Formats: sequence, C-alpha cells, structure tokens
Amino acid sequence: MPGTTGKCFVRFFPIVVLVLASTQFHTAEGGAISVLVSEKGLHFTKDVLIHEALRSILPLRLPQIEKDVKVPVVGMAQIILSDISVDEVKVGSSCVRTGDRGAMIVLMASGATANLTMSWRYSYHSWLVPLPISDSGEAAIQVKGMEVGLNLTLKGQGGSLKLSPVECGCYIKSISVKISGGSSWLYQGIVSAFQGKIKSAVEEAIPMKIEEGILRLNSALQELPKEIPVGDAAEMNVTFIDDPVLNNSSVYFELDGLFLPENHLPSVISYRSSHSRVVDSCGDAYKMIEMSLHEDVLNSASEVYFREDYLQWIVDKLPDQAMLNTSRWKYIVPQLYLQYPDDNMYLNISCSSRPLVKVRKEGITATVDLAVVINVLDANRSISVACISLVMDVSGSAHILLNNLAGTIKLRSLTASLKWSEIGNLHMSFVQTMMSMVIRTIIIPYVNLRIMKGLPLPLVHGVTLRNARISYDDLRIVICSDIAYGNQMTRYLPS
Ligand SMILES: *[C@@H]1O[C@H](CO)[C@@H](O)[C@H](O)[C@H]1NC(C)=O
Ligand SMILES: *[C@@H]1O[C@H](CO)[C@@H](O)[C@H](O)[C@H]1NC(C)=O
Ligand SMILES: *[C@@H]1O[C@H](CO)[C@@H](O)[C@H](O)[C@H]1NC(C)=O
Ligand SMILES: *[C@@H]1O[C@H](CO)[C@@H](O)[C@H](O)[C@H]1NC(C)=O
Ligand SMILES: *[C@@H]1O[C@H](CO)[C@@H](O)[C@H](O)[C@H]1NC(C)=O
Ligand SMILES: *[C@@H]1O[C@H](CO)[C@@H](O)[C@H](O)[C@H]1NC(C)=O
Ligand SMILES: *[C@@H]1O[C@H](CO)[C@@H](O)[C@H](O)[C@H]1NC(C)=O
Ligand SMILES: *[C@@H]1O[C@H](CO)[C@@H](O)[C@H](O)[C@H]1NC(C)=O
Repeated sequence: MPGTTGKCFVRFFPIVVLVLASTQFHTAEGGAISVLVSEKGLHFTKDVLIHEALRSILPLRLPQIEKDVKVPVVGMAQIILSDISVDEVKVGSSCVRTGDRGAMIVLMASGATANLTMSWRYSYHSWLVPLPISDSGEAAIQVKGMEVGLNLTLKGQGGSLKLSPVECGCYIKSISVKISGGSSWLYQGIVSAFQGKIKSAVEEAIPMKIEEGILRLNSALQELPKEIPVGDAAEMNVTFIDDPVLNNSSVYFELDGLFLPENHLPSVISYRSSHSRVVDSCGDAYKMIEMSLHEDVLNSASEVYFREDYLQWIVDKLPDQAMLNTSRWKYIVPQLYLQYPDDNMYLNISCSSRPLVKVRKEGITATVDLAVVINVLDANRSISVACISLVMDVSGSAHILLNNLAGTIKLRSLTASLKWSEIGNLHMSFVQTMMSMVIRTIIIPYVNLRIMKGLPLPLVHGVTLRNARISYDDLRIVICSDIAYGNQMTRYLPS
C-alpha cells in the first residue's frame, strides 16, 4: 500500500536528519570568519530588498479581465478591462523578524498604497438596438491598505546559502476606481462587477512576482564565488559553513575564511583549529554587521605565501650602497676582503618557517624567523659566504581600506645569530646593526606596501563598509561596521 510506505518514510526521515546533524556537529570546526548581521543590519537589508523588489516588479502587468455585465433596462454588455498595470507602490511601514519557528525570516509590509491604470471597453447589442454599440476609455485605480507578508527560510547548502520562499501573501483592504469617459451605468457596472476581481488579481500577482524574485535572488546566491582571489598568488575560501543561525532578530553565519594557494594543492593548512563562535563583541557600538576574523585567517595566509616562496627577498641595493661592497668589510671581516676584494655583495633573505601570527586583546603580533645568506658576486659568479639567522618580533595593526582589511607592521625586536660562515668569525654586533637597518629600511616597507592593499572582506557586490571600527579580541580581529549599498548590487537582485 502506498500510504504505508509514505508513513514509514515520514517516520524514518527525521531520524536520518538527526544522525546527519549530530555527526556534522561533532566534526565541524567552524569557520575562521564569522559574520553577524544585527537587527539594525537586517532592517537595512530589508529596506534595500523592498526597494529593489519594487524597482524590479513595477510596472506590474496583470492579465485582462472580462465579464458580461447586466445593464439595467437594456440587457447584457460585455466589458473588458485590459492593459491593467500597477505603476506605483508606496510602502507605509515594514518590519523583519527572524527566528520564527526555527529558521524563518518574516518580512511584512503594511499600509501600502498602489496606483493602477487600465483601459476599459465594452460592446453591447440587444434586439432593442439594431447596431452594436461600443465604447472605450481609461480608468485609474487606487489601492489602499495593502499588506504583504513573506516567510523565507535561509539554510546552508553545499557551501552556499539557500533562500526559499515558504509563504507569501498579499491582502488588500480597499480599492477605488475612477473612470474617465463612459456613462454612469458603466461606472457602477465596473465597480460592482470588477472590484473583487481587480483586488484578487493584484493579490495573486504580487506574491507570484515576489516568489519569482526570491528564486532569482537565490540563484544569485548560489553563484556567489566560493573563492575570492587575493593578489595573484592566493585565494580565500569563502565557502559557507553549516546553516546560518537566525535568532534574536539577527542572522549569524560562518565562512571557511582560510587562504588557499592558487593551484589549490590540498592540505596546505596543517593546523586547522576549532573556531569557537563569538557574537556581540561590538559592545555599545550598535552597528549593522560584526565580522570577526580568527588569527587562522592570517596564519593560513602566511602559510600559503611561505609555501609559494613569496617570503623571499634579494637585497642588492641599500641606502648606503657601500655596505654591499667587500671593501667596507675590510677591517670587520678581514677574510672576506682577502678572498673577494672590492666585490659587490647581495643578501638573500628568506623566511625559514611560516611566520606565526597571534591576535590578542593587545593587538597583532608575529614571530618571524629569517635566514639571511650573504653572497659575493665574484666575476659574475655568486658565492654564498655566510648565513645569519634572525628572529624578529613584529607588531601589526589592522585598518579598513574601502572593503579591504589592510595592515601595517612594525619591527619590535630583532636578534641575529650566526648560522654558518666560510669567512671566519663575524662581528655580530656590527652584523646585528646592519641587519636591523636592512629590515627596517628595505623589508618592512616592502611588506607594508603589499599588506597596505589589504585582503578583500567577503561582502556582496555593491555593499560597502561605513564607519568601520576595528578591535582585537583573544584570537580574533573584530570589525564592527555599518554598511551602505550602491547600485552594483542590482546584479544580485531580480531585474
Ligand atoms: C497615487 O495617486 C494618488 C492620487 O493621484 C497620489 O496621491 C499618490 O501619491 C499616488 N501614489 C501612490 C503610490 O499611492
Ligand atoms: C509565516 O509567518 C507568519 C508570521 O510570523 C506566521 O503566522 C505564519 O504561520 C508563517 N507561515 C508559515 C507557512 O510558516
Ligand atoms: C542564538 O542562539 C544560539 C543557540 O541557538 C545562542 O548560543 C546565541 O547566544 C543566540 N544569539 C543571540 C544573539 O541571542
Ligand atoms: C537579544 O539579544 C540582546 C543582547 O544580545 C538582548 O539584550 C535582547 O534582550 C535579546 N532579545 C531577545 C528578544 O531575546
Ligand atoms: C573550502 O572550505 C570548505 C569548508 O571548510 C572545505 O570543505 C573545502 O574543501 C575548502 N576548499 C578547498 C579548495 O580547500
Ligand atoms: C667596491 O668599492 C671599491 C672601493 O670603493 C671600488 O674600487 C670597487 O670598484 C667597488 N666594487 C664594485 C664591484 O663596485
Ligand atoms: C636565494 O635562496 C634560495 C633558497 O634559500 C635559493 O633558492 C635562491 O636561488 C637564492 N637566490 C639567489 C639569487 O641567490
Ligand atoms: C659579467 O656579465 C656581464 C653581463 O652579463 C658581461 O658583460 C661581463 O663580461 C661578465 N664578466 C665576466 C668576468 O664574466
């Protein structure tokens, strides 16, 4: 019996969901980027959506309506209303709520008014009048007290967000029809015979259009890229993790947020830690969004750049160029000058391991281990003569540049030690002074030029940060910001 199978399935299904949900919970590490859209942010988003929805559905054309109307004394007349179009809608008030029955977003607009225009015509014949009579004209309709409600679910699906309309309704309190031309019987005929039909035509068409719009918005969400390029060597994984959490008039979601090498070689990130959720670090600053980046975002970036050999610099020019000539070292490292008199030198500086970035309440710090190989250019041959290892402590600060999280670093301390040498003992205090100068004047400014451009924050096209404020929490950089929206966003909305 088909009924039994159906029941069985229904009973079985929640168990499967439960099992899937619980295994997912245990293995989930969470995303390294979390985003909380606050009540204020949701209201802003709602206003943008209503504005865009109206822009895209108006003018709204309704199907033609026709009816035979009984005209007193003379008999039946066929009246046709055509070119019915909703030209303008004004929304009185609107609200948005989340968390209704689990995962629902509820949008309501009430006290809306709308203006419609249409053409009317009738033809009428009876045995009393041998020739058919017809007439036509225009009419204006005003709709008052319109309410529109929309329930949506927002879920995670395959690393994207899935938006589905659950219910959409439109209710109209009253309409008034104003006819130009025609006689009074016609006015009465149209008003009494068509008022209900026009009302229900609008009440049907608006939810239909809204659902179409939601489906288009959903496909735009599916098409959002899962990786965004950062410079030309890396990408950031912006896959959504799990379902968004809708509660307390807010929407919270997480993105993977880790850097990938451009060639997507797997398992680059060896240290994925658990990214516990933080919400509400913005404190008093009541902002539309709160975005937090776990220090792992920065560490995955440092790992990718390290593995891709980006953390390597050849220094063959210095403000004091004579430093890169063995003659300058004549009395400091006599052997060097003896072996390679008056030769040019260059430094081959590279990270010996991935820089370790820490984000704490006090700010951002990083420990960087460098190897500096001193090379001599002797008759166009490059000879490595010594290697210095440097341990640097760097402090960093983040700031927002347009929609990017930019940064600058400063050298806090540096310790140099000799790793190996083919030219005898080096004068370490001289070496340390020289290295410190090279790092401060060459390497740090170079790195700053790069990171001052920043990494793009995962925001939908057309959305820009406004009055962003950065703070540091343990393990996280927190950005509290309002958002604005420009016209590019239309690409993600129904048109
Ligand atoms: C509709 O028409 C009326 C009267 O012409 C006007 O006052 C109103 O602003 C128009 N627009 C809407 C959306 O009601
Ligand atoms: C949609 O939301 C309204 C208001 O919260 C609620 O009354 C209604 O039951 C919801 N509809 C569905 C199908 O969940
Ligand atoms: C939302 O719900 C989760 C658990 O369902 C809870 O941990 C969190 O504090 C809630 N957030 C707010 C802002 O209420
Ligand atoms: C939502 O959360 C805020 C703080 O996180 C709290 O002050 C407020 O009372 C909560 N509202 C509801 C309806 O739970
Ligand atoms: C991006 O992140 C998701 C979720 O963490 C993960 O499943 C996926 O493998 C990542 N993509 C790549 C290319 O590593
Ligand atoms: C190194 O300096 C010496 C002394 O100033 C100079 O004679 C020599 O040409 C320099 N070497 C190179 C390769 O420029
Ligand atoms: C710099 O050092 C790296 C490895 O330490 C090496 O691969 C590279 O060839 C060196 N470059 C020069 C110009 O010496
Ligand atoms: C060094 O290289 C330059 C250009 O690459 C060349 O003109 C010069 O003759 C070379 N010198 C020696 C000593 O090989």
